[in-house]
Amino acid sequence: MDHPDDALAEIRRFWDEDAATYDNAPGHRPRDPAVQRVWAGTLARLLPPPPASVLDCGAGTGFLSLAAARAGHRVTALDLAPAMLQRLTESAAAEGLHVTTVVGPADQPPPGRFDVVVERHLLWTLPDPGAALGAWRGAADRLVLFETVWGRTGPLETARARLRRRLRQWRGTPSDHHGEYDEALRRSLPFGTGTPPAEVTATVAAAGWKATTVVWLKEVTRAERRALPLPERLVGVPPRFAVTAG
Ligand SMILES: C[S@@+](CC[C@H](N)C(=O)[O-])C[C@H]1O[C@@H](n2cnc3c(N)ncnc32)[C@H](O)[C@@H]1O
Repeated sequence: MDHPDDALAEIRRFWDEDAATYDNAPGHRPRDPAVQRVWAGTLARLLPPPPASVLDCGAGTGFLSLAAARAGHRVTALDLAPAMLQRLTESAAAEGLHVTTVVGPADQPPPGRFDVVVERHLLWTLPDPGAALGAWRGAADRLVLFETVWGRTGPLETARARLRRRLRQWRGTPSDHHGEYDEALRRSLPFGTGTPPAEVTATVAAAGWKATTVVWLKEVTRAERRALPLPERLVGVPPRFAVTAG
């Protein structure tokens, strides 16, 4: 990527196109009631008590935003891709929820103070995650990142990821996305090949956040695994974790 604006434009195009099918993947929008319940409990545990003001960065179709709004929080959803936010607005309306949406890059949070900044699966696609994490310190006192172990992992997770890919091919399960990032773009992203918890926490701490803690979301991982058919259930899902800071 020659210029950071080119990267953002390419990323925005990708997600605007992905919006039509993004919610079809259970990992993006779980349909299983037990998985939904566990996520709701996880948010209740990690977010401040409702009604808090929540800024969801890279909110996409609104998995976190909708869960937080359901719990009684006041939610602002920030995202680069208008088509993703359009989906979020439609889903919110279908449930009678209100979520304020803002189109823009994650490192430029909307003005005002929030009780907490949250994100899920945004870090990997940020050209400068440290800059975004630094900007969020000016927007809120608390941070909760929801991430998944993938990419640069140990041999066990690498082997399980390979098995998952084989099972998907065998079953003919469509990809979770309409396409792939261009290889040069992915290589230019600091977390573009994985979000190892230790590297995420180091980046959070380097951005000035204090009391950085990794919380393993074992209940979510377990519920997602139970929702799988056999033989996928035996292989399991990639572990979910949160990083909290304040
Ligand atoms: C993998 S999706 C995650 C969506 C949602 N958080 C979820 O958990 O389902 C990544 C989202 O980040 C958004 N995004 C990517 N780069 C961004 C940036 N620099 N600033 C704001 N949003 C961005 C994309 O448009 C997309 O909606």
